[in-house]
Amino acid sequence: ALAHAADALPVVIEEYLDGPEVSLFAITDGVTAVPLLPAQDFKRVGDGDTGPNTGGMGAYTPLPWAPEGLTEAIMTRVVEPTIAEMARRGTPFSGLLYAGLALTSRGLRVVEFNARFGDPETQAVLSLLESPLGEVLYAAATGTLDAIEPPRWREGSAVIVVLAADGYPGTPHTGGTIAGPLLDGADGPVHLTHAGTRLDGDTLVSSGGRVLGAVARGADLNEARAAAYAAIDDLDAPTLFHRTDIAARAAAGQIPTPSL
Ligand code: GLY
Repeated sequence: ALAHAADALPVVIEEYLDGPEVSLFAITDGVTAVPLLPAQDFKRVGDGDTGPNTGGMGAYTPLPWAPEGLTEAIMTRVVEPTIAEMARRGTPFSGLLYAGLALTSRGLRVVEFNARFGDPETQAVLSLLESPLGEVLYAAATGTLDAIEPPRWREGSAVIVVLAADGYPGTPHTGGTIAGPLLDGADGPVHLTHAGTRLDGDTLVSSGGRVLGAVARGADLNEARAAAYAAIDDLDAPTLFHRTDIAARAAAGQIPTPSL
């Protein structure tokens, strides 16, 4: 039957990736690459990783269950060879390389690359960044990353919980009113980031699928989670919903440390 190639259906064989996912962002000038903190994103819309895929319903950093040397392994096995190969091919890459990875029982696997920051991991990662982001971006743009100090990070953990509009990731209900503290966008240990909001006169309303992010840092994941969820409790936003289990398993020490 295979002789009739035109009738044959293509078969794609994929490797099942059984380990936890990790996002690692690296900023590069095309030669040198500087890692940010590894983070984990929650892609499914519902608690317990149920329901359809989304752009991300929450994230946390760093990863208390990460194996020793995780960042170094990702840099030497994935990020640096990728950057070197792109330069060798005459298509050097400078900017932000986002490696989406799975730590499987057979080792580290690349799920995807993006040439941008990732949402919502970025909000958690940048809330722990103490040194100016502009310094490292400027060094990447001017080919001087090897001459600057590595980024400095705050102690502790950061969590972001996304507030999405009813209906998301299908057609979101827009125009729902949002009121409460922290909506001015000011930075701080607990803050709200705006993604899908707009002003209708003086009233803040939802205007997209993922609407707000409640970002908090704390001494550990439990503290950061509690602060992020407390910020959500203070909101009056009847048409928004969120996952209640962002970083819960990691905070409870329930994620076994995979080997590298
Ligand atoms: N967090 C997934 C993405 O930004 O693609």
